[in-house]
Amino acid sequence: MSLQDKVYIVTGSSSGIGRATALEICRQGGRVTLHGRDASKLQGVADECSSLNQIEPPQIVGDVTDLEIQKRLVNETIIRYEKLDCLVNNAGNSSSYGGIDGTSLEDLRSTLEVHCVAPFSLAKLATPHLVKSQGSIVNVSSVLGQAASNVVISYSAAKGALDSLTRALAVDLGPKGVRVNSVNPGVIQDTDIGRVSRTAFDAFWMTPDRYPLNRVGKSEEIAKAIIHLSTATFTTGENYRVDGGLLAGCYWATNM
Ligand SMILES: NC(=O)c1ccc[n+]([C@@H]2O[C@H](COP(=O)([O-])OP(=O)(O)OC[C@H]3O[C@@H](n4cnc5c(N)ncnc54)[C@H](OP(=O)(O)O)[C@@H]3O)[C@@H](O)[C@H]2O)c1
Repeated sequence: MSLQDKVYIVTGSSSGIGRATALEICRQGGRVTLHGRDASKLQGVADECSSLNQIEPPQIVGDVTDLEIQKRLVNETIIRYEKLDCLVNNAGNSSSYGGIDGTSLEDLRSTLEVHCVAPFSLAKLATPHLVKSQGSIVNVSSVLGQAASNVVISYSAAKGALDSLTRALAVDLGPKGVRVNSVNPGVIQDTDIGRVSRTAFDAFWMTPDRYPLNRVGKSEEIAKAIIHLSTATFTTGENYRVDGGLLAGCYWATNM
């Protein structure tokens, strides 16, 4: 029960990495506020959480870019649990594909809004509570924040911005006792994103041969990394790759 009475907000917890994180928090004795746009999926996760820790978690339904939803996430957490120990900025998807010709300004703006502006806004709202608890923020980024791709320009730009935001906030909030880190996953198969191979690009990244560990990842492996960063008391400003070795070097599956 290493997270006994610790309070987390996990955005985008109706499926995938967010769901796995919420369940792992509850399994370890923590408490969670859930969030997503699909109320019925969210209710399913809430039922799974309460069967683990006997607490019915608050559920906030709505778009993460909506300021009113962001305020409700923080305010209803404080009303319910009277504190906040960790904000996990996880909500997002990579639905927008395209190089320079296939990416509109609107694609870029809306992707930045979900993956960078909303996490910043939530961080601002959460900071007074995190200063009180000496808590932390974990942003869910991607390997594409560190190694950009020409076929998902807006997603690469947004995750790169999130990585830099993570380090900037870590430097700013460190003196106040608040730590800020990101976890940067490779492809995670058991997520809504990972299940649907929509393009040859997706198929390329989902091939186990690309990974020195010879497989793609699982959402509970990312959940454990998120919880590790939330409790790693001397770690801040870290962009922490959990990618099976994907970006460690130029891996070639066949021996010469
Ligand atoms: N899966 C991967 O291979 C992979 C790799 C690297 C990074 N990531 C990152 O991991 C995070 C979680 O994704 P996932 O892989 O777990 O995918 P997922 O299973 O599709 O889950 C995405 C979650 O985010 C929510 N969401 C998406 N857009 C939202 C919005 N505009 N407003 C509110 N909620 C929103 C979804 O809610 P609803 O379904 O209820 O709308 C869902 O709960 C994302 O930030 C993604 O970029 C994923």
